[in-house]
Amino acid sequence: MNENQKKHLWWQEGVIYQVYPRSFQDSDGDGVGDLRGITSRLDYLQWLGIKGIWLSPVFSSPMADFGYDISDYRGIHPLFGTLEDFDELLKQVHARNMKLLLDLVPNHTSDEHPWFQESRSSRDNPKRDWYLWYDAKPDNSEPNNWLSVFGGSAWEWDEHTQQYYYHAFHTKQPDLNWRNPEVQQAMLDVMRFWLDKGVDGFRVDVMWHMIKDSQLRDNPPNPDYNPLELPYRQLLPIYSTDQPEVHDIVKMMRELMDQYDERVMIGEIYLPISRLVAYYGVENQGAHLPFNFQLLALPWDAKLLAAAISEYEGALPPEGWPNWVLSNHDKPRITSRVGKAQARVAAMLLLTLRGTPTIYYGDEIGMRDVPIPPEEVQDPQGLNIPDKYLSRDPARTPMQWDNSEYAGFSNVKPWLRLPEYFRRVNVSEQQGSPFSMLSLHRRLIQLRQDEPALHIGEYAPVHADDQMIAYIRQAGEQRFLVLLNLSHRPCYFKAAHEHYKGLIVGSTYPEREGTSISDTITLSGDEGIIVRLE
Ligand code: NOJ
Ligand code: MG
Repeated sequence: MNENQKKHLWWQEGVIYQVYPRSFQDSDGDGVGDLRGITSRLDYLQWLGIKGIWLSPVFSSPMADFGYDISDYRGIHPLFGTLEDFDELLKQVHARNMKLLLDLVPNHTSDEHPWFQESRSSRDNPKRDWYLWYDAKPDNSEPNNWLSVFGGSAWEWDEHTQQYYYHAFHTKQPDLNWRNPEVQQAMLDVMRFWLDKGVDGFRVDVMWHMIKDSQLRDNPPNPDYNPLELPYRQLLPIYSTDQPEVHDIVKMMRELMDQYDERVMIGEIYLPISRLVAYYGVENQGAHLPFNFQLLALPWDAKLLAAAISEYEGALPPEGWPNWVLSNHDKPRITSRVGKAQARVAAMLLLTLRGTPTIYYGDEIGMRDVPIPPEEVQDPQGLNIPDKYLSRDPARTPMQWDNSEYAGFSNVKPWLRLPEYFRRVNVSEQQGSPFSMLSLHRRLIQLRQDEPALHIGEYAPVHADDQMIAYIRQAGEQRFLVLLNLSHRPCYFKAAHEHYKGLIVGSTYPEREGTSISDTITLSGDEGIIVRLE
């Protein structure tokens, strides 16, 4: 049986869209996005052709890390609304034949979560072992050299009980002890709660962090450390992350997901490809989609990217479904990394590669990172490491909907500033123009959904050089040739062995659509085309 005859699931065929809830749509005039706001914009997402919506956390939280520090996994933060608002959102998503994914944050809780409150109350509290408590070394120093992603040591001293606790991120985000079966059961219960409600899946936060070396061995220095990066990168986190036992945990979660129909588990994992693909699990009993971040991590270089695509395709386990991501709430936006013209090529790449694409809200209109003056920085990563401009705020600014005072996002000043030019770069401005970034996205998504070759078809590399990448997507007799010019200069493609004939059905310069290709195919700078081959 070949790929095209198999039944494919919604999360393989469709496009996923990440909503950062604080910044999508405010409905109650407090300058922060909320659930009712998201519900009010569902028609837009449906119009765009999105299948799955992933919400960054909306749960009860002191907001030390904007919701990635959870104090009640079953509660909705009042800023975002109520559980009833959530139920309504879920109902409205399903009514539009779309799916809703939540962010599951199992690695750590907030220090204000009752579990941690109990755990830190005394050394003999029954929940003491739910977190990672260790004695100081004889000289009173930290148990080992592990660093926090947000700067400084990953160990925080607790005066009251005279031990250190481990936090991979903020001091207000103590890591859970996933070797403890009670912790495992408690988190599986959280998953059940949302799955029973009908939620279609989870994006699992920092999946590769969940288990740490039980001997607490020191991490070795990173010989390639670049001082502009997070100080965390000074060490190679080989003992604090990606431990072999993590796969048992992932499998346990997957077994729960499999008790429900067609739910999806996506893992957030920043690892080299060879390590990443292990998260599909033995016989694909792990994450359905271990997030593949190569497009947001690699330099924008045709040869490098082509090699990475091939390496990934080659490393996937049989039946392992690929996926691609260009931006998210932790990294610079694609338009800021590669520029406006190349971002169009990037969109074509994302939406024509084999595998599930995830679009970060606002990328579809070419939103850029917005410079946030130091006194307005909110992100703890930015605040804790002030001398390096590592704040993630610039990629989390309010969605630019229209040219009204606050861009249609809110009727008051938003929690993060808008760029001065939002009156030009917004949804309503772009919706009417066939040449806009938004129209390009909608057209590409439509084409992708209409053509099995593009959403489930096979992938075959054709050519790559300093300027361009060429590949074919194929299902049965249907074949599409995708040519992407990653440079600003024109380039030329002449097939060495095959005489391609066909019609251009998609282009970053839409004027070209409907024309046929000749022997030597010319591409303008920053041009990508999709050719339906005869
Ligand atoms: C990954 C999330 O994407 C990021 O925003 C967060 O700060 C850390 N995990 C900690 O939860
Ligand atoms: Mg609000």
